[in-house]
Amino acid sequence: MQKQTILTGIRPTGHLHLGHYFGACQNWIKLQEKFDTYIEIADVQALTDNFNNPEKVRNSVKALAIDLLSIGIDPNKATLFIQSMIPEIAELTVFYSNLVTIARLERNPTVKTEIKQKKELFGESGESITYGFLGYPVSQAADITAFKGKLVPVGEDQLPLLEQCREIVHKFNNIYGKTLIEPEAYLSNSSRIKGLDGNEKMGKSLGNAIFLADDEATIKKKIMGAVTDPEKIKIDDPANPDICMVYYYHKLIGNDNIKTVCSECKAGKRGCVACKKELITKMIEFLKPISEKRKYYEKHPEIVDQILKDGTNKARQVASQTIKEVKQSMKINYFN
Ligand code: TRP
Ligand code: SF4
Repeated sequence: MQKQTILTGIRPTGHLHLGHYFGACQNWIKLQEKFDTYIEIADVQALTDNFNNPEKVRNSVKALAIDLLSIGIDPNKATLFIQSMIPEIAELTVFYSNLVTIARLERNPTVKTEIKQKKELFGESGESITYGFLGYPVSQAADITAFKGKLVPVGEDQLPLLEQCREIVHKFNNIYGKTLIEPEAYLSNSSRIKGLDGNEKMGKSLGNAIFLADDEATIKKKIMGAVTDPEKIKIDDPANPDICMVYYYHKLIGNDNIKTVCSECKAGKRGCVACKKELITKMIEFLKPISEKRKYYEKHPEIVDQILKDGTNKARQVASQTIKEVKQSMKINYFN
């Protein structure tokens, strides 16, 4: 039996952090065993936000590839590729853009939230919203359909983008005849990962993240500054681990000593400094296999390049078959 295809994407705008890992990427490692898996490094999409910062996007592409390989994405099981090297995605984006109204894009809840955030940053003028940015859900629909992705592993925040993709597919198939596959979201049960500061979301730009590539000194510094139960002043004050980020990360990385951490904290038998030191040791241990693989790939950039080239070639073959079918349906296949 042929494996089902799943496709997911990630914007290259920096290194992966624990939020990416536990929120999404860990799941991909499992999925690659069962599915024909495509992972897109979405540099074109990253440029919709960072068109004036091409260096950042460029430098993040290979860094992200190394992150993904280091956590266990296996190039023999998953196809890792670069979006801008698949021109068929750009072609599909143009064709699909006729099938989406501007009003519908402006109503997309994910886009709406992002526009709101931009207005907070740049003021009310709205001038910072480009055509490309408003249209990135169309380009994301092209990402998914180019590879005939049936399942799309994403977080909840991406559901409106998937809904928009389904609408485009539906409309395309209605007008031009059944050509495209309607994708479904494949929600991971892991939810959002909280930040070191207790914020509901760990985010690059929020300054509350532990990156998979952080060195030991950085991990130490970050964990020493993590938010604990503010009511706990003295070593022997009993505290509430449920509002403590140190406890949260002990749990997240699967500290097998977790019951003791909890009971000692509640009983006032554990100081926060010692508790943080234990977490630092466990965190470094947890990240060690990842950082060892990273060292290997950093020493052999030619291997990373080859993986990306091979993945992109394979992805391109699939996308070129799709574009053939699409052009045929749209009656713009002139000479065959
Ligand atoms: N929009 C996604 C994000 O910001 C990244 C992405 C690009 C994506 N193309 C995709 C996700 C295709 C799923 C499918 O995280
Ligand atoms: Fe948090 Fe540990 Fe301090 Fe309890 S003892 S508040 S779990 S850091």
